[in-house]
Amino acid sequence: MDFSNCKPLRFLGLHLNSLLCKFVILVAIVLVFRAVYLPSYSGFSGIGQKNLFANFNNHPSEFGKSKFLEVPQIIWGLNNQKIAFARACLTARMLNRTLLMPSLSASLFYKEVDLLKPISFDKVFQFEKFNSLCRGFVQLARYSDVSNITDFIELQKGTGRRWTIEKDLDQLRQFNKHPYHEYETIRVVGNNPFLWHDHWPVKDYAKIFKCLVLEERISKEADKVVSKIRKIGLEEIRIARSSRSETNLLQPVSYVAVHMRIEKDWMIHCKKLEQRSNISEICSSKEQIMQRVGKIMGLKTPIVVYLAVADDLLEDNSILAGWNEGFLPYEKKKLGVFDIYKKHPYLIQSAIDYEVCLRSEVFVGNSFSTFSSLIVLDRTQKMIDMGVGKPCGTDVRWPSYAYNLESESEGPRPWASNMSDSSLQAISYGSNRISCS
Ligand SMILES: *[C@@H]1O[C@H](CO)[C@@H](O)[C@H](O)[C@H]1NC(C)=O
Ligand SMILES: *[C@@H]1O[C@H](CO)[C@@H](O)[C@H](O)[C@H]1NC(C)=O
Ligand SMILES: *[C@@H]1O[C@H](CO)[C@@H](O)[C@H](O)[C@H]1NC(C)=O
Ligand SMILES: *[C@@H]1O[C@H](CO)[C@@H](O)[C@H](O)[C@H]1NC(C)=O
Repeated sequence: MDFSNCKPLRFLGLHLNSLLCKFVILVAIVLVFRAVYLPSYSGFSGIGQKNLFANFNNHPSEFGKSKFLEVPQIIWGLNNQKIAFARACLTARMLNRTLLMPSLSASLFYKEVDLLKPISFDKVFQFEKFNSLCRGFVQLARYSDVSNITDFIELQKGTGRRWTIEKDLDQLRQFNKHPYHEYETIRVVGNNPFLWHDHWPVKDYAKIFKCLVLEERISKEADKVVSKIRKIGLEEIRIARSSRSETNLLQPVSYVAVHMRIEKDWMIHCKKLEQRSNISEICSSKEQIMQRVGKIMGLKTPIVVYLAVADDLLEDNSILAGWNEGFLPYEKKKLGVFDIYKKHPYLIQSAIDYEVCLRSEVFVGNSFSTFSSLIVLDRTQKMIDMGVGKPCGTDVRWPSYAYNLESESEGPRPWASNMSDSSLQAISYGSNRISCS
């Protein structure tokens, strides 16, 4: 190496004699070397060093300069949007690229494109938090990070029967090679990304869902709903106990959340599904749900049962009648929190309800519903993170149940997600595989 004229330092305005110059360059080489090799020894490095070299962890493709993946607006219900978003992230990961923060959709009018009200990802989930939790796995970038917006190539996704999972995978592999690999941005075009073929195991999805933390303004709304539920629960316990002269409550008051899918659309959908798949345990009537929830073992009554139901059922008082003694049913309206929801578009309302179900001590849902399934996935993950060995049964920390399946004691069947399953579909929609037996 010829260090004699020390060019690398001229641009810094430094004019050094050749010996000092060589020394400075050697130090620089050592630093770069450490930066490159440090990530693999991160177990030995201090926190400060890790932060110093965080950029090298973020962008494995190139030092400093990222390449990007752009995807179309993500649509449909909250959970379909979460799944499609995770799929976009995993595609970016496969292509060694950073995902440009996509738009979600605030409304549910998926058939009418002009009503699709885009909402920026960071209006719903925390952007920085996502990147810090998912560091080393996937990363999000802003459009302002793109240095040359004309340096992109389109990736046209196929559709229909002839577009097989193998073709889809081949296409992704192609785009990881020359000449596609060189473009700064790969722009995915085509219909609804939710229809992309799935190439990833459940645990990869779970990793991404874990990085999705609700924006603070929204989680505060969920706090309000949850504290209202617990407050009512406490009052009911006080009333019940004063007559039995018991006192003192040490723990926060528990509640049960039931994702009660009995609205007309769902009933039509699930009846068709039952016929097509020849499975009889998909649809549950409200009487069946009440009966099974009433037989959950080990619940201390009185207990508030929060009913997560579609808005058109809020007028239907019959869902509040017929519960076993000690089970106190409430929905948004009876709880007096409907105003909190009404302020927000569909997507946010759904996110609040998701959170209220997620935080409940006991959750009961339908194993054929994506909403219910993602809640159970989240709860199972939470238990695994806390070191709970078997997330099934009545004595676990956050038990979940499927009301469309009956247990031996005529209650709902215990339900946990199988984190080692190879496909999300197997556990999250169109399935009665609920892992617990
Ligand atoms: C993508 O990154 C991984 C890990 O950093 C590396 O092993 C792989 O070769 C990269 N693939 C391409 C096509 O750059
Ligand atoms: C931006 O990308 C285009 C297309 O690859 C290229 O022709 C152009 O020179 C690039 N501009 C800059 C400033 O690098
Ligand atoms: C549906 O399942 C039942 C029993 O589970 C079986 O007897 C019947 O033959 C099946 N029908 C079809 C069309 O597969
Ligand atoms: C979880 O899924 C794996 C892979 O499909 C399977 O081998 C295992 O038996 C499943 N475990 C349970 C408890 O269902």
